[in-house]
Amino acid sequence: MIGKDLSLAIRLLNAGELVAIPTETVYGLAANGLDPLSVSKIFAAKNRPYFDPLILHLDSTVHLLELVDEMPHYAERLAEHFWPGPLTMLLPKSQLVPDLVTAGSPLVAVRVPNHPLTLELLKALSFPLAAPSANPFGYISPTRAEHVEAQLGDKISYILDGGPSEIGLESTIVDCSGDEPVVKRLGGITIDALSNCLGFEPKVDIQSHSNPSSPGLLDQHYAPRKPLYLVEDIEAFCQAHSGKSILYLSFGANTCPESVYEMNLSPKGDLIEAASHLFHYMRALDSHSGDCIVAKRLPDNGLGKAINDRLYRAAHK
Ligand code: TXA
Ligand code: MG
Repeated sequence: MIGKDLSLAIRLLNAGELVAIPTETVYGLAANGLDPLSVSKIFAAKNRPYFDPLILHLDSTVHLLELVDEMPHYAERLAEHFWPGPLTMLLPKSQLVPDLVTAGSPLVAVRVPNHPLTLELLKALSFPLAAPSANPFGYISPTRAEHVEAQLGDKISYILDGGPSEIGLESTIVDCSGDEPVVKRLGGITIDALSNCLGFEPKVDIQSHSNPSSPGLLDQHYAPRKPLYLVEDIEAFCQAHSGKSILYLSFGANTCPESVYEMNLSPKGDLIEAASHLFHYMRALDSHSGDCIVAKRLPDNGLGKAINDRLYRAAHK
């Protein structure tokens, strides 16, 4: 059921049930993050492997030190600058955090999401919310309540509707457990923005191979059901696949053959706008009739880097 009933969401979460929540990045599938039984329902509903750890969502940094054992200076600085917002930090976990949440890792992922409804919800609860993106494992992340309903509706007690996610890409994950920050997932906060805050450019260590310790980084992830191809030249692709009905996820001013069904992420070439449309358009094309989706690689700067990362992982291998 979809709705805006905050007190119902609070009741359900207090009772150990699952509630889908809006955030500025994507919708999350939330449960009491300190209760292993509640958390295990997330894995079951998503069909998510237990080796894939979850992010804990907080309303502020007030209770953060109950969840993490230490926090370096640069992490405090990042928190002050980017929270609430699309930044997730990996920090040494305290004993309070169940091993199920971190998949046995000594680090816990934490973030303060920037969505008024979810911040209000978090303030009303006495625990943080564990929440992965609210999609079946491996599929495209949801950026609207209807996306969640379409795929997990029968497995979730309630979907809190906060409108379309403003950013549309998952949070940027930074490992803050060492002397220096290391970016582990590209997302809503760009490397440039991180560099401006830190005063230096952070290391980036994003595995692009199959890595069971962080499935969000698996080569095949965020994927539609139809094969998706990342191409430079749509005309050449169409000529080479002339019998096929092609769906085109485009960007900026461009031309494509008339037979092709096109959805443009941002006709004016704006990467922020493109990010906010990405997952919605990928889903729309996936449900449209056609044989395959062809996507254009975006400029590799700013949010374009994170968008290209998602397109690459969505692409047919
Ligand atoms: O924007 C977001 O981050 C959204 C919203 C709902 O907050 N959440 C999200 O969660 O994208 P999820 O579970 O789909 O992706 C989180 C990624 C996973 O790839 C997971 O492996 C990684 O974070 N992660 C979580 N805890 C970790 C940990 N302790 N160590 C290493 N990686 C971790
Ligand atoms: Mg996910």
